[in-house]
Amino acid sequence: MDVIKINGGIPLKGSIQVSGSKNSTLPLMAASLLTPENLILSNIPHLLDIVTMCNLLVNHGVKLTLDGSNLSNKYSGRTLLLNGSSITNFLAPYDIVRKMRASVLVLGPLLARFGQAKVSLPGGCAIGTRPIDIHIDALKEMGAQINLCSGYVEATCDGNLKGAKINFSKASVGATENILMAAALAEGRTIITNAAREPEIIDLANCLNAMGAKITGAGESKIEITGVKELHGASHKVIADRIEAATYAIAAIITGGEITLKGITLDLLDNIIAELEECGAKITKTKDGIKIKGPKVIKPVNVITEPFPGFSTDFQAQFMALMCVANGESTITENIFENRFMHVGELQRMGAEINVAGSSAHVTGIKRFKGAQVMATDLRASVSLVLAGLVAEGETTINRVYHIDRGYEHVEEKLASCGANIYRIKNL
Ligand code: UD1
Repeated sequence: MDVIKINGGIPLKGSIQVSGSKNSTLPLMAASLLTPENLILSNIPHLLDIVTMCNLLVNHGVKLTLDGSNLSNKYSGRTLLLNGSSITNFLAPYDIVRKMRASVLVLGPLLARFGQAKVSLPGGCAIGTRPIDIHIDALKEMGAQINLCSGYVEATCDGNLKGAKINFSKASVGATENILMAAALAEGRTIITNAAREPEIIDLANCLNAMGAKITGAGESKIEITGVKELHGASHKVIADRIEAATYAIAAIITGGEITLKGITLDLLDNIIAELEECGAKITKTKDGIKIKGPKVIKPVNVITEPFPGFSTDFQAQFMALMCVANGESTITENIFENRFMHVGELQRMGAEINVAGSSAHVTGIKRFKGAQVMATDLRASVSLVLAGLVAEGETTINRVYHIDRGYEHVEEKLASCGANIYRIKNL
């Protein structure tokens, strides 16, 4: 397995191209199941999760072509052509779904277009139980018959799914995406209330509308979808990855450096800019992105994770690494996932002073991390260790790097291009 080694202490300087959003790309790829025509997605990031979704869609019968013409600049994004004209298999097997929970996004589209789907339950994962009851209940309200059998969701419907009024008990991102896709081909009108409001939901709705869907209100908590008989092909550019961008913004701040992030706009970072500025960072708009300058002394800031537009759970681990070297005390409260403090033990190995009580972590800032052997546990937890390593005294070795590769494209190359002493050792 690969490991990443970092020798910390260098203020980062330079520019980083932000990749296309992983969390947008995954549902957009699943949308290819809704039409027999070509769906062409550009600005696709090169990540393990995208490969997993490719494998899942190929297993269903989707034909995939990766356009190599723009591979000369490996950060410029790739183009993926997906064709769902010969779907033959409606089973999403355990072996693929267990690797990535977002696999469950094939459920809505398969059911809506073919009237059947059998999808493995994702099961538990490092950051909590993560059930899919909201997806299932909503599809039932749309007329689906659903049985849970031997770890699988078996869903069928007689004729088409029917539009329905659906009120989510929680603003679930995945459920909103699944139901958007299912309702696009349902009979009649679906109204979702308490829908998730993330930019990735808007991106999916924009693509579905380009495919002929009739969706209004995406980005608000009430979304209306008028079902259409069929959807057609479209071309769509994936939005920038705001989580990757926020992570590199924190890298600039934690090292007291200055980085320009290309390809991202300030509005995509609306739910973290205020907190970063409160820490002392200076953030300005540039011609093709944003510039972040870290302060000499990082101020402590309390955060609470909430559904969008609140502070995102996907920023929490990285922000905690930052608070560990702030000048004072802070509290970080995790309200979305019940077990998302896996990084705490690893940050403590690097000298962090953190006390967890229930869903809150109380952090007392230290002067510097100390390099150590640490282990990546989940996607965002693992990148928080990279951030800590960038300002640690001595060498940090991060094991189980495949977690980082699920969501960060060329992480070591991007950081090294800004002067970080970071490198990967393959197959150690
Ligand atoms: C998505 C993101 C993930 C992010 C999360 C929350 C993708 C691929 N992943 O995950 O990066 O951390 O949103 O912003 O976009 N819940 C239920 N029942 C359900 C579904 C969800 O109780 O049927 C709960 C979850 O346990 C959690 C909350 O709802 O407490 C939000 O989860 P959800 O928004 O569904 O997360 P994902 O879509 O899996």
